[in-house]
Amino acid sequence: MIRKILKYGAPVLEQVAEPITDFETAEVSEIVVDMWESMYAAKGVGLAAPQIGIPKRISVIDVSAGEDETKKLVIVNPEIVEKSGSQTGEEGCLSVPGFREPVTRANHVVVRAKNEKGEPIELSGEELLARAFQHEIDHLNGILFINHLSPLKRDIIRRKIKKLQKAGEWE
Ligand code: NI
Repeated sequence: MIRKILKYGAPVLEQVAEPITDFETAEVSEIVVDMWESMYAAKGVGLAAPQIGIPKRISVIDVSAGEDETKKLVIVNPEIVEKSGSQTGEEGCLSVPGFREPVTRANHVVVRAKNEKGEPIELSGEELLARAFQHEIDHLNGILFINHLSPLKRDIIRRKIKKLQKAGEWE
């Protein structure tokens, strides 16, 4: 089911999400199915469960945006265990639509997580994939990309969003 993607201002986006402890029931796979549908419908390359209102530590990433099935990644309870290098590039977020800003991130990361079945996995990524890992894991900690901007830039964006909210154009 395609779920509504929550926008900046929704409290769940700024909360620390809960780890998944139950891999026995269908809960995780049901959430993941909805996350893929919602992400592709919104033409994103990553989505975290809090963005569809579920405060759980699950993210999905597909840097091929639906072009390559083998690029689809599901990370549950992920942790970044290694970071190196640095990259600066434009970043956006389905929860902050219409805004893109340069963000500096590590260029290479190693992530430890569980897959949908609860099996341990270790993944590494560079460049765009490394950026996606960091962005989507940030979401699980209640952090949005605008938190990485300078206070001045962040304030400008916040003010623009407030105006959109008042005009009823940010729901
Ligand atoms: Ni995002």
